[in-house]
Amino acid sequence: MFEKLRENPYFNEVVNFLKQKNLYESSYLVGGTVRDVMLEREIKDIDFAVATDTIELAREFAKKINGSFVLLDEVFLIGRVVKDELTIDFAQLRGNSIEADLAERDFTINAMATSLECDRLIDPFRGQEDLKNRLIRMVNEENLKADPLRVLRAYRFHATLSFEIEEKTRQALKNNAHLMKITARERIKDELWKIFSVPESFKTVQLMIEDEIFKAIFKTRDFLEIKPDIEALKSAEELLMNSKREVKNLSCFKFACLFDFLTSELIKQIKPARKEQRFVEDLIQAGARIRKIETLLDKVQFIRDFETILYPALVYGMSKDPLKKSRKWFYDQIEEFYKKIYLKNKKKLPIIKGEDIISLGFEPSPLVGEILDRIEILVLAGKISNKDQALEEIKKRFIVK
Ligand code: CTP
Repeated sequence: MFEKLRENPYFNEVVNFLKQKNLYESSYLVGGTVRDVMLEREIKDIDFAVATDTIELAREFAKKINGSFVLLDEVFLIGRVVKDELTIDFAQLRGNSIEADLAERDFTINAMATSLECDRLIDPFRGQEDLKNRLIRMVNEENLKADPLRVLRAYRFHATLSFEIEEKTRQALKNNAHLMKITARERIKDELWKIFSVPESFKTVQLMIEDEIFKAIFKTRDFLEIKPDIEALKSAEELLMNSKREVKNLSCFKFACLFDFLTSELIKQIKPARKEQRFVEDLIQAGARIRKIETLLDKVQFIRDFETILYPALVYGMSKDPLKKSRKWFYDQIEEFYKKIYLKNKKKLPIIKGEDIISLGFEPSPLVGEILDRIEILVLAGKISNKDQALEEIKKRFIVK
């Protein structure tokens, strides 16, 4: 089972390094790595538990392999080394044995270890059995209380591994979810984004709604109630799965589908990147505007204003459309128009300048901008395509004889 890992050159580098340091016997492969090897998942992260000053150790190892060192956790003494796509974590062995260390971890599937020979599985909580039964089971409730982010991690593993959450554990998650109010917001966002990154995240999100997890994470003003729109998330995911197009900031996008106009307020509470905050605000605006499109010019104006997020804006609009699939044609038509007509017309711009308008006798004023805007929209819509037609339009519309 561990053969592939043993062929990994960096794993071997660590092993040799620990041998040189006389730490080989007292070091272990632990946690997510053991779980992922047993699930035959790709290993991007190798976790070691070592009975020494792991910060110094990680620093030294980073230097040795020309990787970069990150001080991951000052309290629990975890030093990280990053080299080519791979992450190697050195955590100080907690307690005075590997069994004591594992007893402080979150879930049984994450509470297994092996010697560096990889020939002896240490599995005091029967994680292997839970792996086989695809079950997320807590090591104990106290561990959830000690680090409430573990509540959210349970739902994350439900999403990414497609495992079920064992009933007693689920009860404990519900009981302790409120403790997450004090958990670092960046950590919460990380876990939420991992959940939403899964193609059918709605299955996990449904469970989180039932267990009132979002209410535990977010504060809202008394008169505002969090009402996640699971149907919108589900239809957005269906649309995305049936399309080859990719959406940037995918997790953030799905978060917006789920929370609608409340998104802008909620995302602020988990420290979004500036571009994420902008993106959700633009999406909400696009969602409101799309509902009002009636004429060709409305359509053109909409595309122009939301061109950089057009595809997500259309999926967002569709997922929230009360007529759902029966109005899909409407959104498809906007995209079709954009690709076949709008982009071609855009190449013709600008067909007229401010000076041309002033030479018709207009004073320099905001009106000139308005006229230019109107002409641009007409060009994009394909109604006019050269300067003469533009001047004609201006005379007709803006010059009162
Ligand atoms: N761990 C824990 N509680 C946490 C975070 C981590 O008990 N809040 C333990 C688990 O044993 C976990 C290991 O530390 O398996 C490594 O943590 P991390 O790399 O953050 O998560 P993984 O479980 O490895 O999952 P992934 O790598 O997929 O994020």
